[in-house]
Amino acid sequence: MSKQLIAPSILTADFLHLEREIELVNRSEADLLHLDIMDGVFVPNLTFGFPIIRQIKKVSKKPLDVHLMVINAERYLEEYRDAGADWLTVHYEACTHLHRTIHRIRELGMKPAVSLNPHTDVSLLENVLGDLNMVLVMTVNPGFGGQEFIEQSYHKIRKLRKMITDAGAETLIEVDGGVTLENLGALIDVGVDVFVVGNTIFSASDPLNMITNLKNHL
Ligand code: DX5
Ligand code: ZN
Repeated sequence: MSKQLIAPSILTADFLHLEREIELVNRSEADLLHLDIMDGVFVPNLTFGFPIIRQIKKVSKKPLDVHLMVINAERYLEEYRDAGADWLTVHYEACTHLHRTIHRIRELGMKPAVSLNPHTDVSLLENVLGDLNMVLVMTVNPGFGGQEFIEQSYHKIRKLRKMITDAGAETLIEVDGGVTLENLGALIDVGVDVFVVGNTIFSASDPLNMITNLKNHL
């Protein structure tokens, strides 16, 4: 893959003016729109569900990259598809029948991805790697925006990149959490393809300009 992708996460956006925030992303060079779905069980925080995803889909011109931080995600795959998810990410730690879930996501017409918490080793994905469009490496503990990047992630990403190359797979590597203009270059060097960026964009004085800035650093 020649150029990396930017996926703004609206977790720290202004939810009272969500339409305005999404239109800002529409006008930008961002590639995907990242939505964080939290259940208050798998992670110590709650966000939103199907009705809001459906509303966002009506406004967004970017494909929806839906990151499920929920247990029993496999119960609602069809609902996420109907609400407008294009990419669907489930957590390794929250999914017992991961193989079945990945295949069902693809059958439903979405692109399957699996996310790993910071403590979860990438080698655990060996048996499903070729079935995945993307692996999401959490570079913070999931649940909140604006946290500090975990440095150990570089080692994991390097290891994952080697696994993908050795398997001859085309699986993309996405990182989520603590991405800034400062660590972007080092993350590109270890082989990241897709950057989820929340706080760096939505806490910037000029979010649109920040997206341009991030794209110019790729
Ligand atoms: C955290 C979420 C992230 C979050 C990243 O659980 O999965 O998508 O929005 O936010 P920043 O970029 O602020 O670390
Ligand atoms: Zn996320």
